[in-house]
Amino acid sequence: MRSGSGFDETVDANWWRQATVYQIYPRSFADADGDGIGDLPGVVSRIPYLKSLGIDAVWLSPFYPSALADGGYDVDDYRNVDPRLGTLDDFDEMVAALHEAGIKLIVDIVPNHTSDRHEWFKEALASPEGSPARERYIFRDGAGPSGCEPPADWESLFGGPAWTRVREPDGTPGQWYLHLFAKEQPDLNWDNREVRDDFLKTLRFWSDRGVDGFRVDVAHALAKDLTEPLPPKAVIDATLPHGSHPFWDRDEVHDIYAEWRQVFNEYHPPRTAVAEAGVPAHRRPRYASADGLGQAFNFDLLMADWDAAAFRRIIEENLELARASDASSTWVFSNHDVVRHATRYALPNGTDLHAWLLGGGADPQPDKEQGLLRARAATLLALALPGSVYLYQGEELGLHEVTDIPADARQDPAFFRNPGVEVGRDGCRVPLPWTVTGPSFGFGDGKAHLPQPDWFGQYSVEAETKDEASTLRFYRKALELRRRLQTSEELQWVERTDASALHFVRPGGWHSITNFGTEPVELPAGTVVLSSAPLSEGKLPTDTTAWLV
Ligand code: BGC
Repeated sequence: MRSGSGFDETVDANWWRQATVYQIYPRSFADADGDGIGDLPGVVSRIPYLKSLGIDAVWLSPFYPSALADGGYDVDDYRNVDPRLGTLDDFDEMVAALHEAGIKLIVDIVPNHTSDRHEWFKEALASPEGSPARERYIFRDGAGPSGCEPPADWESLFGGPAWTRVREPDGTPGQWYLHLFAKEQPDLNWDNREVRDDFLKTLRFWSDRGVDGFRVDVAHALAKDLTEPLPPKAVIDATLPHGSHPFWDRDEVHDIYAEWRQVFNEYHPPRTAVAEAGVPAHRRPRYASADGLGQAFNFDLLMADWDAAAFRRIIEENLELARASDASSTWVFSNHDVVRHATRYALPNGTDLHAWLLGGGADPQPDKEQGLLRARAATLLALALPGSVYLYQGEELGLHEVTDIPADARQDPAFFRNPGVEVGRDGCRVPLPWTVTGPSFGFGDGKAHLPQPDWFGQYSVEAETKDEASTLRFYRKALELRRRLQTSEELQWVERTDASALHFVRPGGWHSITNFGTEPVELPAGTVVLSSAPLSEGKLPTDTTAWLV
């Protein structure tokens, strides 16, 4: 049995089941050396903040060496730290300091693709067709008489073709490689034993350094059936069900995770994992099974309208699905890929967020006050549910999406690959404001790598720490109280006559009620321990959640 960095061997192996996990997007969290890019010493410097927030674990988005063609999800070297973010020693120091503060660490792992600067890809380009170096990726001859057409008409998720042609070592145009994302992210060939073994080595490398778990990027894409002839896009999209799609959610992907699970179980406590798998709800339990990754993201609330019936259906379904694999559910409203939920809720239900961002975030005008009210109510509801809650840095400040980043400052490949169609995800990745004023609002001493708007200072940690009614103070209180709910996973609905309110009870007689309607609703007898907004004459106002005992 392996152990990591002297962490307490007696720790509960089920710590993850109801954990509150805080996502750090490291390049935008805290910049200790003033180069405009957040770094690992920056994370360490903010551990007192994380501790005072009351989280159980940090999920650290990629911190590996990367050219940042996709915000770090283009990894050059899986067993190293981007020199702009620090060193392996800094990493070890961060793990030790987090553990010292009682906070676990989950790291992002990106197995579907490397970056095009990974030594394997460079070797593949320098090697001939059919060579073992090319076999680690997905190379195919082109279609058409001179091979000048891509092998299939598939599109990358960031727009544009999913195949790129390479120049062979002799300088002639040659084969094509598959990249489901940006062209700088060549897909790995998971039928290749060497690829599989290398990832097992990576899992052990970080687990040995004391990492407690992994967030698995695009977990449903690794297994692929690329038997020739490759089906055209229209055929794939229209006919093939999940389980037999050529690259999404194939059943064989679970063989890979069964091997990973064996590695996780070499440790005490076993390392945990959460799958980012964009699959239909009924396909989630296999990713979340105990002989697989153990947990899977459920993004249903993140996509749901602000509506009591929709929330109830999603909660019931996901608790049921989690039970099916003996996992616990996950609840998420925001992350580094989506519009911040305070802003989403500031818009009418059903707003097309891509089109809205493209229009500069002005039509319709967001009702920021309503957005924050609903975001706080939604978060308090989720924090009362059984399962783990994944928070995204800055949501505890009630941050809104930044919608006016100039084109020449944007970084997201989705922006560059979709001219005039998408602005991408930079608006939720703007470096955090720590102070009311000062260079980059306390993010660092220099200019932040993405421009921060003037209004950021009002949402800073400094401003909100002083304000009793702030979103930060509210999150701290909620997380502190939530600890009392982390012991059992039961939930009982309370049926009410007012259909716009959602009401459930957790063990110990802990009530959570959310008012999605337009009129205040009655509260049950009991003491209100926290509400997401002030009560109105003893009633629960619109867009508010209250906890009572
Ligand atoms: C990550 C994205 C990333 C993509 C490709 C995801 O789902 O969350 O940020 O662009 O995978 O790695």
